[in-house]
Amino acid sequence: MSEILILPGDGIGQEIITQALKVIDCLNADFNLGMTLEHGLVGGSAYDETGSPLPQVTLDVARQCDSILLGAVGGYQWASLERNLRPERGLLELRAEMDLFSNLRPAILYPQLASASTLKEEVVLGLDLMIVRELVSGIYFGKPRGVEVRNGQKYGFNTAAYYESEIRRIGHAAFKIAQLRDKRVCSVDKANVLEVCELWREVMIDVAKDYPNIELTHMYVDNAAMQLVKTPKQFDVIVTSNLFGDVLSDCAAMLTGSIGMLPSASLNQDGFGMYEPIHGSAPDIAGKDIANPLAAILSVAMMLRYSLNQIDLALKIEVAVNTVLDKGYRTQDIATEGSMVVGTNEMGDLVVEALA
Ligand code: IPM
Ligand code: MG
Repeated sequence: MSEILILPGDGIGQEIITQALKVIDCLNADFNLGMTLEHGLVGGSAYDETGSPLPQVTLDVARQCDSILLGAVGGYQWASLERNLRPERGLLELRAEMDLFSNLRPAILYPQLASASTLKEEVVLGLDLMIVRELVSGIYFGKPRGVEVRNGQKYGFNTAAYYESEIRRIGHAAFKIAQLRDKRVCSVDKANVLEVCELWREVMIDVAKDYPNIELTHMYVDNAAMQLVKTPKQFDVIVTSNLFGDVLSDCAAMLTGSIGMLPSASLNQDGFGMYEPIHGSAPDIAGKDIANPLAAILSVAMMLRYSLNQIDLALKIEVAVNTVLDKGYRTQDIATEGSMVVGTNEMGDLVVEALA
């Protein structure tokens, strides 16, 4: 029996989570999953209802649940709010409050979608890499931060900072994942310029001593961005800081044809996890029944695998997604010539049909 907090959030978050819920309902009914659901608010929709992008009750319920399934947050109408009230703040606080330091962002190319990538097929066919992004520290949270007047003009500043222990724990997370994969970790930093990255590299080298069978390499982030589009298949696990991971994971997602395909997991030390698509709230296409729900559906699979120890059911979802793609169904973001374009809702139904 597991209890899950559902946080659709804003924009397309609502409609894609509706599809993920259909999949959960089906697993409950047909495969005895026994998942119970709580529903809560986060982001702009939470601000509209309660005046806060992360209401206390959401946090309280989250603490009682086994996992969180989140859609996306953000939208134009909240962009000019004071920073602390913006939707993104709700997400960042939730990550920090639950100490979800380990963010796993797999980039896997579904062979059926090879032609949907903007890169040549031979460059991306077989792509399967994992970005492990530190999620609750670094420049996203470093202090001091702010905008103030100095020397008669405005001055904006943030602080990139890591404690050794923070680098160590994300290092261990990455090496442990590499154990289950191709046993290679590439640590991405900017140690040629930034002191914080010098420490990052030093600690990674130290952590690696506990994993003698894993190969550790280092790459500067600018080069890593280039290598990701040049020869992405050279990577197995990439471990990197919060900001670099944010940037590189969007880049890696695009290799797979669409950011609409990729789920993510954010885990704390005890295996509690928040699962969310890596795409945003896409307010421009919200409510039009065109968003791709597969990342949200695959986030449920990741939850089953990483937090709920239901690997069989995770596989069932992944097989169902493959079946639907094999049949030629595509949402518009992954459509190519000859594919059958379906809407958000229909895509959800097709996955459920393939599951049942
Ligand atoms: C992501 C997003 C978030 C981030 C935003 C919405 C705060 O871009 O999860 O990658 O920057 O971490
Ligand atoms: Mg991002």
